[in-house]
Amino acid sequence: MRSLISRRNFLATGAAALATSPAHSEDDAPLRVRAEKHGLYFGCAVQKEQFQDIPYMKAVSREANILVPEGELKWPDVHPEPDRYDFTGADAIAKFAAQNKMQMRGHTLVWYASNPAWLEVELLEKRNERVLTDHIAAVAGHYRGRMHSWDVVNEAIDPTQGHPDGLRVKSPWQKAFGSSYIDTAFHAAREADPNALLFLNEYDIESASWWFGRRRLALLRLCEKLRARRVPIDAIGIQGHLKAFREPFNENIFAEFLSDIRSLGLKFMITEFDVADIDGPADIAKRDDEVASLTRRFMNVALDSPASLGVLTWGLSDRYSWLSHPVWGRDYKWPDGQLSRGLPLDSDLQRKPMWRAIANAFRS
Ligand code: XIL
Repeated sequence: MRSLISRRNFLATGAAALATSPAHSEDDAPLRVRAEKHGLYFGCAVQKEQFQDIPYMKAVSREANILVPEGELKWPDVHPEPDRYDFTGADAIAKFAAQNKMQMRGHTLVWYASNPAWLEVELLEKRNERVLTDHIAAVAGHYRGRMHSWDVVNEAIDPTQGHPDGLRVKSPWQKAFGSSYIDTAFHAAREADPNALLFLNEYDIESASWWFGRRRLALLRLCEKLRARRVPIDAIGIQGHLKAFREPFNENIFAEFLSDIRSLGLKFMITEFDVADIDGPADIAKRDDEVASLTRRFMNVALDSPASLGVLTWGLSDRYSWLSHPVWGRDYKWPDGQLSRGLPLDSDLQRKPMWRAIANAFRS
């Protein structure tokens, strides 16, 4: 009898304990779980210094199934001198990704900005494409088979600079080689890592203003030409740096752009999502809600497209956002020094309404 009662007791208390255990309720499922349900990615940019911040990296491993090094694969970090490569930062991130069952994407093989002085000189004087093809062979080759994708060329267009096709003229690459540097980079990347998806990554192509439309047109025209020349481009990186209180967003305009990308036989990712909240309401709860509302409208369209591969945010918490950086965030940071609230977790790593907006967008 005793054993029966104790068994009944166990079942009663055991069952009660399980019912209240803090298991992931569907509603709290991390973003990576929601994305994976639809064969999609959710992730973020990370920096090697952030490995010191254990709670932060725990949140990253909980929410993300893909990572991108914020700076460790840019020329100054990975190729600091002509005959020296430094993979330590990106290797640390690759190791963390592998340990946490995450994919990794590379950013970026060619950018007009953040180039080491030695490269600027070489591009001005020698103009030998080997400097580009050797770099790509070395860097993309080092991660061969381990990269989901590469931002092969970053920010190649700027219609305000007078090029007939709206290409960025003020670029050491464009100046040294003309626009063929784009073709060369993609061919070299395909040869170095045939498995990686190859992206052209761009900003200010999301909102409804006419100069965003002019940029979208220039980008689509460039992609048409690359496809026609059989350049191995697979996808567009839409950076997604939105400005909630400075730029109007229109779902139909954005949906049409995504459909145009798909018509070119290309996929896309939102590669650097965040929302500058400068000029928003002083009341933080109201500002968070308006940022979440824009996030919902944007993500519902982005994730509704069959060409979508997923979303990465540029950082996961307001604790580490370029929007608050004194130099890079100069146009977006709050003059009173408060942190921008443009990422899914706040600076205490708590989920914000923006997190919920992204979570719901994956569900729908
Ligand atoms: C920025 C990083 O956030 C900074 O930490 C770094 O010092 C400079 O680059 N578009 C891009 C990213 O493609 O590479 C930029 O990242 C932000 C704008």
